[in-house]
Amino acid sequence: PTALAGRHFLKELDFTEREFLGLVELAAELKAAKKAGAETQYLRGRNIALIFEKTSTRTRCAFEVAAADQGASTTYLDPSGSQIGHKESVKDTARVLGRMYDGIEYRGDSQAKVEELAAYAGVPVFNGLTDDWHPTQMLADVLTMTEHSRKPLKEIAFAYLGDARFNMGNSYLITGALLGMDVRIVAPEAYWPSDDIVAKARKIAEDSGAVIALTSDVAEGVRGADFVATDVWVSMGEPKEVWDERITALGSYAVTMDVLRATENPDVKFLHCLPAFHDLGTKVGLDIFASHGLRSLEVTDEVFESEYSVVFDEAENRMHTIKAVLVATLGRAGRA
Ligand code: CP
Ligand code: NVA
Repeated sequence: PTALAGRHFLKELDFTEREFLGLVELAAELKAAKKAGAETQYLRGRNIALIFEKTSTRTRCAFEVAAADQGASTTYLDPSGSQIGHKESVKDTARVLGRMYDGIEYRGDSQAKVEELAAYAGVPVFNGLTDDWHPTQMLADVLTMTEHSRKPLKEIAFAYLGDARFNMGNSYLITGALLGMDVRIVAPEAYWPSDDIVAKARKIAEDSGAVIALTSDVAEGVRGADFVATDVWVSMGEPKEVWDERITALGSYAVTMDVLRATENPDVKFLHCLPAFHDLGTKVGLDIFASHGLRSLEVTDEVFESEYSVVFDEAENRMHTIKAVLVATLGRAGRA
């Protein structure tokens, strides 16, 4: 069995730097093996439940393809297709699915739910996104950074622009701290992660050597950055009424070519977990954008489609990294 055999994957805070990097390294190995047509199946006969209380393209498909490649089966439970949250508690669901499955993925709103699922399932539980954390996304982002930078991780600087109070902002801050990176949160102060999370990040940084900065100044925040990342300004589960407030507050934090130039780094790369609002021409029924005269939101189409953008490598890496989580936690002996 591997060092992470039987473990849950709920949030970055539960892992050491070495454990986290071990998953990224395993993902790189599994990716290379698949590309070479030489993948070994470590999950034959395993069964994995995928609970999605929120919609998904990448995360769901990544779990399904990763499991299939590795010889495991999956069952997809959609937001309305199970009893969870309507007729049955998380605790009971955990005990039922734990009797049938070897592992359970959960995407929903509260972190408390995925933690409760993990407490009662008796099998590894994987967080496929909650309001607080998006840990599988972080594995993909770190793998993508290692692929697109010649620097060791501890020398890489990245800046996250946008609403940093939600899953992506929290996860970037803690992941950067854990891995000893130079991490900048660039947002109006009201959109910074909570004091509690910032304190945790600073504590972790004392050991890892991470440099942590929170700033509302875009030019200062991105100067020297190797990667610039952003996320949607309104997340799943938030009411559409908050669009107006977000567009007003975060408008000057959109990733434009000027922002990339302000890094003063010709090799800068752009990251986005996706889905992205880079081309509002493809969105219908959202009159709010028209009333603000906008063509894009958190990133311009020019940046998104540019040579700086590595968002589709990042999306592909969701699959290789989720596969690493499954192999490390559920894999049969033989995978050291
Ligand atoms: N990045 C991400 O989690 O995408 P999905 O919502 O499509 O799964
Ligand atoms: N912050 C976004 C991330 C989507 C992958 C959301 O929660 O909707």
